[in-house]
Amino acid sequence: MKYLMTLALLMTSLTTLGNSLPDGPPEGGASILPADHDIPKDEFGKMVRQGQLIFSNTGQFAGAYVGNDLSCRNCHLDQGRKAGSAPLWAAFLSYPAYRAKNHRVNTFAERLQECFVYSMNGKAPPLGDPILVALESYAYWMEKNAKINPLLQERGIPQLQKPGTPPSYERGKTVYANNCALCHGTSGQGRRANDGHMVFPPLWGDRSFNWGAGMAHLNKAAAYIKTNMPLSLGGSLSDQDAWDVAYFMDGHNRPQDPRYTGSVDETRALFHRTQNSLYGHLVAGHVLGNDPVSKN
Ligand code: HEC
Ligand code: HEC
Repeated sequence: MKYLMTLALLMTSLTTLGNSLPDGPPEGGASILPADHDIPKDEFGKMVRQGQLIFSNTGQFAGAYVGNDLSCRNCHLDQGRKAGSAPLWAAFLSYPAYRAKNHRVNTFAERLQECFVYSMNGKAPPLGDPILVALESYAYWMEKNAKINPLLQERGIPQLQKPGTPPSYERGKTVYANNCALCHGTSGQGRRANDGHMVFPPLWGDRSFNWGAGMAHLNKAAAYIKTNMPLSLGGSLSDQDAWDVAYFMDGHNRPQDPRYTGSVDETRALFHRTQNSLYGHLVAGHVLGNDPVSKN
């Protein structure tokens, strides 16, 4: 009973969050950033608002390019403001940049395209598409009005040291049951509010990010979880628990890597030759990447 009440409360507060964009600077280190009511009431401001809408409800406002139930804000918290969750405004200042993932210098717009392909399991909007223009306007507006010195310690996700003991699926399962399942569901499927709105995003399965996403890498997932989860209790898990639960999350199947060549072994050799990816590995009785829609 107590469990259900907590959940109902959480759902109500988070649904409100999801539907109406909060006005005013959010909590934490992001207070140097402009508030929504500072968005100018002109043509540029309209584009900024559009970008914010796309960022918050990506399936609704950029549906043609989305292949799962996630929105940008599900990972980039406080609508792209929160330090430690790869904030959008700090990213804006960091491109063009060389990316080892595709071995060339990428523009900011190209970096946005990539999160559509992998994290959103969708397609890249073409360069110049109003969707990318809106997202870039939103990022630029937030950065331009931030009271920061441009050292950008806030950029990206703080790295997490390797754990003392190699991460374990079994221990991760316990960490998950105790700290995550209440919101993200016992099978990682997430939860919807009564109106169908996704309140708690899925962590694995066919409606989550795909195998090419940053979050499908143990080091990034562990670092993200350590800093940001459980929601509003970031920093509360031990490093070992963060690694273990990242292993458990990324030890489940999810949509196929869009660079899939037709063979899991070959795709692993080409794109997943790192200890941080479990793609192609046998975990809990499944070869990951082999059966992308299974909900193991
Ligand atoms: C499943 C989680 C997830 C979702 C959903 C997601 N991203 Fe990301 N995004 C990440 C991760 C993880 C990184 C990599 C951060 C790192 O490597 O430090 C990243 C990186 C980025 C970066 C570059 C950050 C930097 O500092 O270089 C941008 C820009 C970005 N995402 C924009 C978006 C946009 C726009 C959307 C929605 C269309 C989106 N992301 C959806 C997880 C996600
Ligand atoms: C109180 C509810 C709650 C708890 C508990 C919680 N989360 Fe989350 N989590 C959320 C919400 C809500 C979001 C999306 C944030 C947003 O859209 O503002 C999220 C986002 C995420 C994301 C990025 C989005 C995605 O679907 O990939 C990951 C990864 C994640 N959580 C993992 C975890 C893990 C692992 C735990 C347990 C250690 C955990 N969470 C505990 C509510 C919770």
